[in-house]
Amino acid sequence: MNILVTGANGQLGQELCEQLEAQGISYVGCSKRKLDVTSYEQVKKAFTNYNPDVIIHTAAYTNVDRAEQEEELAYEVNALGAKNVANVAKEIGAKLCYISTDYVFNGEGFVPYGETDEVSPLGVYGKTKFAGEQFVRENGDQYFIVRTSWVFGKHGQNFVKTMLRLAEEREELGVVHDQVGSPTYTHDLALFLIELIQTNHFGTYHASNNGSCSWYEFACTIFDSVHKNIKVNPLTTKEFPRPAPRPHYSVLGHEAIKDKGLRDFRHWKEALQDFLVEIGAK
Ligand SMILES: NC(=O)c1ccc[n+]([C@@H]2O[C@H](COP(=O)([O-])OP(=O)(O)OC[C@H]3O[C@@H](n4cnc5c(N)ncnc54)[C@H](OP(=O)(O)O)[C@@H]3O)[C@@H](O)[C@H]2O)c1
Repeated sequence: MNILVTGANGQLGQELCEQLEAQGISYVGCSKRKLDVTSYEQVKKAFTNYNPDVIIHTAAYTNVDRAEQEEELAYEVNALGAKNVANVAKEIGAKLCYISTDYVFNGEGFVPYGETDEVSPLGVYGKTKFAGEQFVRENGDQYFIVRTSWVFGKHGQNFVKTMLRLAEEREELGVVHDQVGSPTYTHDLALFLIELIQTNHFGTYHASNNGSCSWYEFACTIFDSVHKNIKVNPLTTKEFPRPAPRPHYSVLGHEAIKDKGLRDFRHWKEALQDFLVEIGAK
């Protein structure tokens, strides 16, 4: 089996390449410099050269707030990029695994979203990622669409690293308490993806660490875990306005994982402890 990873310099892309390497699976990691997914020619050339059996498409425009001002670019990368990848994957007969997001949901629910629940993204990022999903669905049947949420890991910037930095700089902090989701450790997600792509259980999946919390609860757990004495004040979304609207509730239900008999994720708190050890924070 030969795997091609797009967005290989990203938070998830780097983790995937490391895990593939560790498992002795043949892969090629393509960063944006090597493979810009907005160029059909580049996608065609890379996929034809490497001739992968599976493409894991992690590359994306991921700046949720900036996307509100750069809608065209976000669509070009997230939607048209996915279209290029899906078209060429089909041409070469490769399986495709497209990484999507909990932000395809509007967050008005109170119970975990199922894979077949209606989507209704609030912002540009979610809309363009969903448009990417649709291009993947239209382009064949050998695909996995994997929606994940609140990703953290050792590569790149993420909420956990930001909180650890702020804990060094401040004595008091406000964190949003009315947005609830499921944090997801790149290490666990990468292992899940590597297991999934070796099956033919095609379709849409929700893949996040189990359990849920608000950003405020997430922050408090991080500080408790590393014994940082910082005062954390719960804020409402209104008190902490951002350019992009975000869902109030975006917990992902794991029906597809269970239905297909795949290994489910551990609780996010357990994953967080491993991550803090991994980066030497505890
Ligand atoms: N992070 C989260 O909390 C989260 C939550 C839900 C879903 N996801 C999804 O998970 C996937 C991985 O996210 P991540 O956290 O690893 O994001 P990331 O760290 O921002 O990685 C995305 C990578 O895509 C690259 N990229 C951007 N435009 C590209 C283009 N035109 N062609 C090729 N590569 C391009 C970026 O390169 P540059 O940095 O050089 O631009 C970056 O290396 C994405 O599909 C994202 O939508 C993430």
